[in-house]
Amino acid sequence: MTAFDPRGVRTDVPLTRRVINGRTITYLDSAASSLTPRTVIEAMDRYYENYHANVHRGVYQTANEATTIYEGARDAVARFLNAPGGSSEIVFTKNTTESFNLIARSWGATFLNPGDVVLLTEMEHHANIVPWFQLRDTQGIEVRFIPVGDDFRLDLSEIDELMRDVKLVSVTGMSNVLGTIAPVRQLADVAHRHGALIAVDGAQSVAHSSTDLVGLDIDFLAFSAHKMLGPTGLGVLWAREAILDAMPPFMGGGGMILDVSLDGFTPAKGPSRFEAGTPPIAQTAGFSAALKYLEGLGMANVAAYEKELTGDALTRLALEFEGRVRIIGPGDTLERGGVISLDVEGVHPHDVAQVLDQFGVCVRPGHHCAKPLMKRFGLAATARASFGPYSLVEDTDVLLEALGHAVKMFG
Ligand code: ALA
Repeated sequence: MTAFDPRGVRTDVPLTRRVINGRTITYLDSAASSLTPRTVIEAMDRYYENYHANVHRGVYQTANEATTIYEGARDAVARFLNAPGGSSEIVFTKNTTESFNLIARSWGATFLNPGDVVLLTEMEHHANIVPWFQLRDTQGIEVRFIPVGDDFRLDLSEIDELMRDVKLVSVTGMSNVLGTIAPVRQLADVAHRHGALIAVDGAQSVAHSSTDLVGLDIDFLAFSAHKMLGPTGLGVLWAREAILDAMPPFMGGGGMILDVSLDGFTPAKGPSRFEAGTPPIAQTAGFSAALKYLEGLGMANVAAYEKELTGDALTRLALEFEGRVRIIGPGDTLERGGVISLDVEGVHPHDVAQVLDQFGVCVRPGHHCAKPLMKRFGLAATARASFGPYSLVEDTDVLLEALGHAVKMFG
């Protein structure tokens, strides 16, 4: 194991001490939402107890302090991502889904014409599929998909043909079902060589590895705070400043204008143009604390540690359940993260998850909002276990114990 101290992280997260059905919780659903360290909870409490006011409006002291907290989070996100243009490229949204809707409805509706192609992959979350289908209906664009091979990795063998008429490549950094990590830098080079832009769904990848926007050379990045030890209700859209500046507002209302008259409106400059209405202020206080916490751990350490945990779990699952449990994703740790989808032969994933719950084990059963991918592998659903920085090898022990019962019970 690395020098990283997961037991210390575990101690910092109160919910890891919860008892469910007489057993200490085994939380293996971090891909759906991560658990929250006490410092993050305390930062939000501190905000409500000392600083709460609306932002960008008041002139009194707490209003200024709240604005400082909100804008400070924007700076913290820019630093965390190594954003080339700094905080003026960071837009706060509700979640990854809203960030993709923003890209589609603002950039897509403005710059895409009938016949233009948006190239996705077969392993996308619905958040990076449905907004493009909606745009296809209104704008006459074409939506095309990079296939996923039988090895659960992107099949890029025909990529140059697939790029015909493509204006945007939009891919997940890491599949929330397979754990597969996409070769983002390679795809960015392909996109740019063909004169297209590239957007990345970072909902899974930003939470579990280091992100360097300068090195990645992408154009858009979307992700959510609640998957990276932060609060719910807060997402991020990063886009290159020149692209963001050319995009019209997404929603209209308070806070996003420079001027309004009876004749019309002039949108505000910068990210606030996309942040209509009162934003999630307390959540930004929590998110700043979460980013500080993750920076303290070091994202490279988090990635290395989760890779070890994943490798250990994959090996033991294959050994103990050979022929009974199929892993729907790469069986090795090469270019893959800590999301392990399981198909237990002859047992519905919901039944698996219910038996696991009796042991206090939290996994997600279902299609994981990736129905085209499920169809690709002839499945309706999987039971998915996923790790976070507070996960321990003991979690895998309990998972295997509970899975053994599920297999016996239905076997
Ligand atoms: N997108 C989240 C997941 O995969 C909710 O579970």
